[in-house]
Amino acid sequence: MNEFPIVRPRRLRRTASLRRMVTETRLDPAQFVLPVFVVPGHGIRNPISSMPGHNQLSVDGIVDLAKQAENAGVGGLIFFGIPADKDEIGSPGWDPAGPVPQAIAAVADAAPGLVRWADVCLCEYTSHGHCGPLKGDVVDNDATLPLLARAASVYADAGADVVAPSDMMDGRVAAIRAGLDESGHDDIALCSYAVKYSSAFYGPFRDAAESAPTFGDRRSYQMDPANAREARREAALDEGEGADMIMVKPAGPYQDIIRDLRDRTDLPLAAYQVSGEFSMVEAAAAQGWIDRDRVMIESLTGIVRSGADIVLTYFAVDAARALAGGSR
Ligand code: PBG
Repeated sequence: MNEFPIVRPRRLRRTASLRRMVTETRLDPAQFVLPVFVVPGHGIRNPISSMPGHNQLSVDGIVDLAKQAENAGVGGLIFFGIPADKDEIGSPGWDPAGPVPQAIAAVADAAPGLVRWADVCLCEYTSHGHCGPLKGDVVDNDATLPLLARAASVYADAGADVVAPSDMMDGRVAAIRAGLDESGHDDIALCSYAVKYSSAFYGPFRDAAESAPTFGDRRSYQMDPANAREARREAALDEGEGADMIMVKPAGPYQDIIRDLRDRTDLPLAAYQVSGEFSMVEAAAAQGWIDRDRVMIESLTGIVRSGADIVLTYFAVDAARALAGGSR
C-alpha cells in the first residue's frame, strides 16, 4: 500500500477550485423546507423571542415570506397553526377556515414554486397541549387517528402537496393514507415523522406554536433519545403503512439514526433541524462566540452528509442566500 511521502491528501485541498471539485456533499436550497407559524388576523407579526428572525405571522405576512423563500430558491414551507381557540379534542385543527388551510391556499397562489407541507398534529389545537384527545391523563391513541385523518384531508383540500404527521400515534400513517384516498387525495404525499424523539430541543418551538403540554410530557408517545433499534422499527412500520417519505427529528444530535435509515430505506429521507438546534446557534453567534453563517452551513452539511435528502430548517432562507453567495 502506498504511504506518505507518496500519498499526500493535502494535494486535493491546495486551492479553492480543487476543493470545490472534490467536495462530497453539496447543499441545494431545493432540499430546504422552512417552518412557518400562522396566526389568525391581518397584519400580525409577533416576534418569537427565543427564535431570532422568526415571527408568528398572519396569512398576509406568510405570503410575503413565501415569496422571499421562493426567490431564494427554497424548496418548500411547512405550516404550523396557532388557532384563535382550542378545545379538548383539537377540533380547530380541521377547521377549513383555520389559519393553516388559509395560508396554504394563499401560498399556492402567491408562490406556486414552493412545495407546501402541512404538519399534522393536534397539540397546537388542544386546550391541554397533548397531541390528541385524552383518556384520563394519557392520549387516546385510537380516538386520535380519525381526527388526524380529517385534519390531513382539510389541508389537502386547501392545497397541501405533502402532509406530515408529527404526533407519533401508532397506526396514524395508515389512517391518514386511507382518509386522503377516500377524500379524493390519492395523489397527495405523506411524509411520516416516523422517528421523532422526546427531545428538549423542541423548547423554543413550543413558545412559537404555543403548544407546550399543560401537564406531563410527551414521553408516552415520542421516542426515548437513547433508542436506535426502535427507530428502524418505527421507520419500517410507517413505510409498510404507506409513507412516501420518512423523517428523523431532531437532526443534528441524531445523525447516526439518519445514516442508519438512509442505508435501510429507499424512500426520500427528511431530517428536521429543530428550534433548539437553531436557537443555540443564534444565541452563541449573538455572543460573538461563533461565526453564525459558517456554523449554519456546517450544521446543514453534517445533516446532509449523514444521509438526509431534505432538511426542515429555520435557516432555510438564509442558507439558500448564503449558498447563492458562494459560501460553503
Ligand atoms: C408537534 C411538533 C413539534 C415540533 C414540530 N411538530 C413539537 C413537539 O413535539 O413538541 C418541533 C419542532 C421544533 O422544535 O422546531 N406538532
